[in-house]
Amino acid sequence: MTSPGPSLLVTGAAGGIGRAVAVQLAAQGALLSLFDRDADGLRTTADAVTAAGAPAPFTAVVDVSDRIGVADAVRRAAAGRPLDGLVSAAGVLESAGLTDTSDESWQRHFAVNTTGVFHLLQESAPLIRDGGSIVVISSNAARVPRLGMLAYAASKAAASALTRCAGLELAARGVRCNVVEPGSTDTAMLRELWADPETGVDRTVDGDPGAYRVGIPLGRIGAPEDVAAVVCFLLSDAARQVTLQQIFVDGGASL
Ligand SMILES: NC(=O)c1ccc[n+]([C@@H]2O[C@H](COP(=O)([O-])OP(=O)(O)OC[C@H]3O[C@@H](n4cnc5c(N)ncnc54)[C@H](O)[C@@H]3O)[C@@H](O)[C@H]2O)c1
Repeated sequence: MTSPGPSLLVTGAAGGIGRAVAVQLAAQGALLSLFDRDADGLRTTADAVTAAGAPAPFTAVVDVSDRIGVADAVRRAAAGRPLDGLVSAAGVLESAGLTDTSDESWQRHFAVNTTGVFHLLQESAPLIRDGGSIVVISSNAARVPRLGMLAYAASKAAASALTRCAGLELAARGVRCNVVEPGSTDTAMLRELWADPETGVDRTVDGDPGAYRVGIPLGRIGAPEDVAAVVCFLLSDAARQVTLQQIFVDGGASL
């Protein structure tokens, strides 16, 4: 009899990077719990997970900013068993700067990108086995100032910091906590930023001096799978000595 794969929870699993993480983990036979607020996207990811050979995942339509919803979904996902780890990929981005960021937009960013991570870590940590692994997807904007990303960058910097503080506490149990900070990655979130989809890739790779934005030295936009590969490494025993790290996955764009 083959042993069951690791039990792992992924938020933001209905699309983009979260879906790519789920599919890569499925190929390793993981028992997955997938959370997102987008029910249709979750169904598509669940189909992709079973097509990749993993058991049918547990899915929960949940808004990570809702404490009670997260607590309930985490409890049902674990179903009395310890979790081996989790990946927080849910996030939102609304482009605005100092003059045009509304209070509501500021609060939406923090509710999802920061408080959502806080809820997830606080509710899940007691259910993660000793020696488990937590990976939070933040952004390279957490450490590199960018025009039009005021609230997003601030909320991601807070998420990176809270993850590393939680990791310091959880190190006593051997639970590792790391932050992955992607740069431009080809998902719906990135494409919604592009005024012209025809030129979006070239403009992003080349950079824009007028916007104080360096390009991507490796010369290509990241694929969601590029980020997922680093996440899978951090979840694995190959990374057993790696914790409290913030790792750029951005083709060198944060130089
Ligand atoms: N794509 C990029 O260029 C890029 C760069 C840096 C960081 N990131 C980060 O990577 C993560 C994944 O983003 P993506 O690019 O795959 O974008 P995406 O929009 O494709 O995926 C984000 C997912 O989060 C879900 N989500 C949003 N708010 C939620 C909420 N309140 N509760 C539950 N689910 C919610 C969405 O439904 C969606 O499925 C995000 O945290 C994002 O900030 C993306």
